[in-house]
Amino acid sequence: MKGVAEIGFVGAGAMGSALIRGLVSRGRMDPGKIAVSDLKEEALEALERDVGPFKVSPTRELPAMASFLVLAVKPGEVASALEDLAPAMGPHHLLVSIAAGVPTGFLEARLPQGVRVVRAMPNAACLLASGCTALAKGTKATAQDMERASRVFGAVGEVVEVEEKHMDAVTAVSGSGPAYVFLFAEALMEGAARMGLPWNVARILVKSTLMGAARMLKESQEHPAVLKERVCSPGGTTLAGLFALEKGGFRGLVLQAIEEATRRGRELSSELR
Ligand SMILES: NC(=O)c1ccc[n+]([C@@H]2O[C@H](COP(=O)([O-])OP(=O)(O)OC[C@H]3O[C@@H](n4cnc5c(N)ncnc54)[C@H](OP(=O)(O)O)[C@@H]3O)[C@@H](O)[C@H]2O)c1
Repeated sequence: MKGVAEIGFVGAGAMGSALIRGLVSRGRMDPGKIAVSDLKEEALEALERDVGPFKVSPTRELPAMASFLVLAVKPGEVASALEDLAPAMGPHHLLVSIAAGVPTGFLEARLPQGVRVVRAMPNAACLLASGCTALAKGTKATAQDMERASRVFGAVGEVVEVEEKHMDAVTAVSGSGPAYVFLFAEALMEGAARMGLPWNVARILVKSTLMGAARMLKESQEHPAVLKERVCSPGGTTLAGLFALEKGGFRGLVLQAIEEATRRGRELSSELR
């Protein structure tokens, strides 16, 4: 059975299966080269309907099937999954964990000496292959390990590499970020309705405005301040709206939100240690 798969996934829930779907739909991996363990039979069946047949294995046997493992269980389930994996692991294994807030030190301490560990922080938009993931090396991981991890997460969005000390800030920005945008969208819709626009019109306008602005931001090389200036005529409506946002402390509030979320991430990680 040894080495029969190119990659093994521990957990085929929302994120594990999104990664597998991304790898298969982009033609980066044949489903037959993927081994998966999950406690839920239904999760495996649903995934198989989408991507075709892959190898199924109990968690404790996965390390014998693949030397590259992705740990995609909830943070609270990590310790027990590692108990199953550790006895069959050694220095030829690379484990990439996506468990939010779980430091590489926590993983390395529960695995045999020499196992290479990479920590990944994907975000919810990876479920639509439009996400972003930050990767951080554990103490033994190599540049080649980071490249392998990048290829997997590159199937569901952008990938950046950071030092692990920045992972809490990453979580605060790209992990929590979609929720800030949803709050902003909700407020824009409410503002539109307050000015008398029907709700269905408000929803269409706000969604496409956010999508359009996001695309302009992504495709342009310009700083957002430059893009902002381009839609502001002197004495015009946009500057009047921006004035109200700045007067109400919008920019300062966003900075504070990132600081608070980073602080909370640090607190949660240190509780785990
Ligand atoms: N979803 C996101 O947007 C997102 C974003 C960033 C990071 N993450 C991280 O991704 C990880 C997975 O999140 P998720 O949303 O995909 O969770 P999920 O949908 O609950 O998926 C986890 C799956 O793993 C299974 N599982 C638990 N213990 C296992 C074990 N020992 N062996 C094999 N399978 C096991 C679970 O089964 P049971 O339900 O039966 O326990 C479940 O089906 C989390 O650590 C989370 O922090 C998720």
